[in-house]
Order: sequence, then structure tokens, then C-alpha cells
Amino acid sequence: MLNINNVLMPDGSRKNFAFNSLANIDLSTSANNSVDGSNLLALPGLVDPHVHFRIPGMAEKEDWLHASKASFKGGFTTVFDMPNTKPATTTQARLIAKFAEIDMQLTQVGIPLKYKLFFGADKNNFHQIPLVKDNIVGIKVFMGSSTGELLMDDESSLHAIYALAKAYNLIIALHAEDEIVIRENTVKYQDAVDFKYHSIIRDKSAAIKAVHLVVELSRIYDVTSYILHLSTKEEIDIITQAKNDGVRVFAETCCHYLFLDDSCYDRLKGKAKMNPPLRSKQDQDYVWQALRDGMIDTIASDHAPHTLVEKDQPLCKCPSGVPGIETTLPLLLTAYKDNKISLERIIELLHTNPIKLFDLPHNDDLVFVDINTYKQLDESQLATKAKWSPFAGMNLTGFPQFVYTNGTLFDVINL
Ligand code: DOR
Ligand code: ZN
Repeated sequence: MLNINNVLMPDGSRKNFAFNSLANIDLSTSANNSVDGSNLLALPGLVDPHVHFRIPGMAEKEDWLHASKASFKGGFTTVFDMPNTKPATTTQARLIAKFAEIDMQLTQVGIPLKYKLFFGADKNNFHQIPLVKDNIVGIKVFMGSSTGELLMDDESSLHAIYALAKAYNLIIALHAEDEIVIRENTVKYQDAVDFKYHSIIRDKSAAIKAVHLVVELSRIYDVTSYILHLSTKEEIDIITQAKNDGVRVFAETCCHYLFLDDSCYDRLKGKAKMNPPLRSKQDQDYVWQALRDGMIDTIASDHAPHTLVEKDQPLCKCPSGVPGIETTLPLLLTAYKDNKISLERIIELLHTNPIKLFDLPHNDDLVFVDINTYKQLDESQLATKAKWSPFAGMNLTGFPQFVYTNGTLFDVINL
């Protein structure tokens, strides 16, 4: 048994915990089977509704052996994985095979990470939706192309998928960037070499146009749309209006839009390339305000690792995406300590809202974070297979020490 005493609770009170089932806890280092928890803050187990753990087919970038540890180390006990794998998760057979491969990896590594899968919609797999509807957390639609081959850039297919989502009561998660804008700009700036052109090629007009269409589709079909990685003032204004009009749209943002901006390319080069791209400082300030005002519903990591060799390539070849599941909570808790956001809001964004929105069953998962010690983010300590972070070197607090899930306590520092 291990006691963790005098732990700070989100409401400011202090509490003692006792755990009977211990995973990798070394009791020889604790006096009387007790740990002083006075530096620890207890949070509910967090939910990351948007990760790319790359199985099947891209294990050189990430796999569930590494990413499950990274999830626990980041305080997440539930994740939703995206379908842009190789091959993409677009058929019932591939979905079943993906569940089996993930379960095998989780068993092998002994990490009971809870997870759900999004199903990829393409223009030719509508007949698969009734076959998988009970086994998925929602449908993922790429309105603009990104990593992988999934793309649904024509309005008739979008109408068809919304009609299906209505019929089967499914949520649609959208990568909302307009493909025509992206293609035109890609031709226009084909000779660009500076990474800052990524934000110009995937200009905010692409996102604004797509988000307008999503709101319209949600309104017409009365379907819940979950708009992934919101990053601009205009998108927030559109969503705020839609919410006020009673349209069922929910919005997610990610820490890269909150802690990096389009002035970071000189320093980070390919490590700052993701879709949608980094935006201006003004957009960033607006996203922060929308977070505080409750206009944004969730924060996801969009954990999308690529290898360092891939990220070291020139702009036109460098793939988009950054790892993030180990840094989301420390970044936000550091912002909390800097009075940029409240603890209550962080818990809503990373726990309460995703549970409500995706109708997850209640669990008693807990995360114990050290809320007083600051340390520089060290890439070599990361569990993700990619072993790099755009936030490397930042001085952060709020790193998880223990995770309690499925009735067992894990020491996540030593996973
Ligand atoms: O930057 C991104 N990376 N955006 C996406 O839409 C996909 C993701 C990935 O899978 O690499
Ligand atoms: Zn993503």
C-alpha cells in the first residue's frame, strides 16, 4: 500500500490518499509506505480527443508502446486516435485490425490507456459507416489535405456524410481548411523556401471558408460538429455566433497555437510546421481570451510526431505535425501559475468538456502533478518515439508524477 498525504485539491483543500494496487512503485524509497504530497496537485484523469499515434503503418514516427507511456506522463488516461494512418482507417476490416494491433501493444507495454478511434470518411466509403457506427467515437473529415491521403473537398460528399451522421447520431470531427485555397497558394508560392511561407500558403482564409461551411452543414442537418484545432480570431467569431444561434458546433484548440506564433519559424524551422499553421500574435491573444470566456470547448495535443530526419527537410518536403501529449498539461499549468488561465477552466477543457461532449462513461482516474518544481523541458526525457518538441528548453511546472487508473497507481516519472 502507498499513502500520498497532504495533496492539494483543485478547490484548495488538502487530502490524504491510500492506494492498494501499485504498478511500478518502488516502496524502498518511501518511509512508512508514505509519500509527502504537499507539492502535488490532484487532477481528474485527462482526455485528449485528438492524437495521431501512427499505427498502423507509420511506426517509425510513433507507436502505442511509446505513446501510451507519453500519455500517462502527460496526465492523459483517455485518448482518441485519428484515422490518417497507412492504410487509412476507412473500412470495418481496417478498424478491427487497428483495435487488435493497439490492444496488443498496450498489453505488451502494460499500460491500461483508455482509447477510442475516429473513423476516416472518404468519398467512397459511405457504405462502411453503418458497419462501424457503434465502435467509433466519431467520423473524421479532412476538408483540406494534410498528412495522409484522406480528403473530402467537395460539397456533395460533405452533404452526404452529414446526412449519414444524422441518421446514425454520430459526431463529425473536422480538419476545416479549404483545399482550393491551399492548392492555389501552393502553386503561387511554389518556389518559397522560408518556413514562414507555410502560414501564408495555408492562409487563414482557408480556415475561415471551411468553418463557415461546417456551421452551415451543422445547421442544415442538426449534427454535432467538432471543429479541430481552431487558431484564428475569425474562426472563433464564426463559432461564437453559431453557438449563440443554437447550432451544435464545438471547438478545440491546441497548445502550439497558444504558446508559439508565426514569428517562431526562424528559430524552429520545420519543427514549427503543422496544419493549420501557426498564426499571428494577435490571433493567439484572441484564442487565449476565447479560452477564458468559454468559447473554446477543449484543448487537444494533436500529437502528430514525425521523425527528426523528416522534419529537417526543406519546406516543400517537411511533413506537418508536432508531438504534444507530454507538454500540454505542463504548458497549461505553467500558464495557470502565471495567472493566464484558471485551474477550473483547465479541468473543464481537458476533462469535463470532452467527457460531456463525447458522452464518455465516468471513471475515477487521477493525476498527481508537481505544481511547485520548475524544470526545463528536456527532449531526451520524452517518452514519445519522436524524442523532440517545439517547446524544448521552456521552463515549465506541473509535470505528472503519479497516475491512478483502473484501480492501480503508476509512477509515471519512471515508466
Ligand atoms: O499538422 C498536422 N499533422 N495536421 C494534420 O492535420 C495532420 C497531422 C499529422 O497526422 O501529421
Ligand atoms: Zn490532427
